[in-house]
Amino acid sequence: MVKIDALAYVVAESTDVSKWKHFGEEVLGVATAEAPEGGLYLKLDERKYRIAIVKGKEDRYQASGWEVANETAFDAVAAALKQAGVTTTKGSEAQRKARCVQDLLSFTDPSGNLHEVSWGFTTDFARFVSPIGVEGFVTGEHGVGHTVLPAVEFDATWALFRDVLGFNLSDIFRHKFTPDPNEPVKRIYFTHCANPRHHSLALFEMAMPSGCVHIMIEVPSMDEVGRAYDRMQKQGVKLMATLGRHVNDRMTSFYMNTPSNFALEYGYGGLMVDWEHHQAFESTAVSLWGHDFSVGFK
Ligand SMILES: [Fe+2]
Repeated sequence: MVKIDALAYVVAESTDVSKWKHFGEEVLGVATAEAPEGGLYLKLDERKYRIAIVKGKEDRYQASGWEVANETAFDAVAAALKQAGVTTTKGSEAQRKARCVQDLLSFTDPSGNLHEVSWGFTTDFARFVSPIGVEGFVTGEHGVGHTVLPAVEFDATWALFRDVLGFNLSDIFRHKFTPDPNEPVKRIYFTHCANPRHHSLALFEMAMPSGCVHIMIEVPSMDEVGRAYDRMQKQGVKLMATLGRHVNDRMTSFYMNTPSNFALEYGYGGLMVDWEHHQAFESTAVSLWGHDFSVGFK
């Protein structure tokens, strides 16, 4: 049985890594360190990094890093993907070193999103020290947070995560950008893996040139969200959605743009779910209040 534990990390590509260093330290409040080949690690906890920036030709999202418990679980994922006819690429020694893991494989889902699966993270467990005093981030067994990925090939992409990788549905939302009755409805499936975070992966039935709709990182107090909002304004970072509270994971958050052209949700108070007693549902509203996404289009 395949079991993905958590979204261990995300990888973003950047034409100017120094922008991520500034954004990471001065807006997110994370610690940074140099990574191989001119890259940058963003440290949020005792691990060496939770967000990896790689130097490249584009400013975009690159990969979602899923982790499993051990080598046995890793072999099971590799076998399941092979049996499903999914082409996997074994990580090179340089990749394993850059990602700080024992072993790693990558694959592309039917919508073109790149995923990595790894086991056995390496770290010195140095404590997190924010350069601007942020108290910490909610990570651990819950992973870095969640990622929302474009999924034009929606059914095939969801089938891969559900039937091959063992994800399950948390809830459904159907989105339209305009009141036009001819606009096709786009599905968003919020899905979870083997940890209590309400969703680690959401699939959005639309294209997104930057490769990601948004990622979410979580702080342990509302004041940390407010302080991040202040820093976003002070540093001139673009607001992508106003402060609000989501219906499905009850997260209170705001969204801002990152140097790699996808949004980042900075939130507090996300639901941790007992999956034995969860019923999947469809919500007809995104938020209880707030979260005006129209500001992102201005
Ligand atoms: Fe989110």
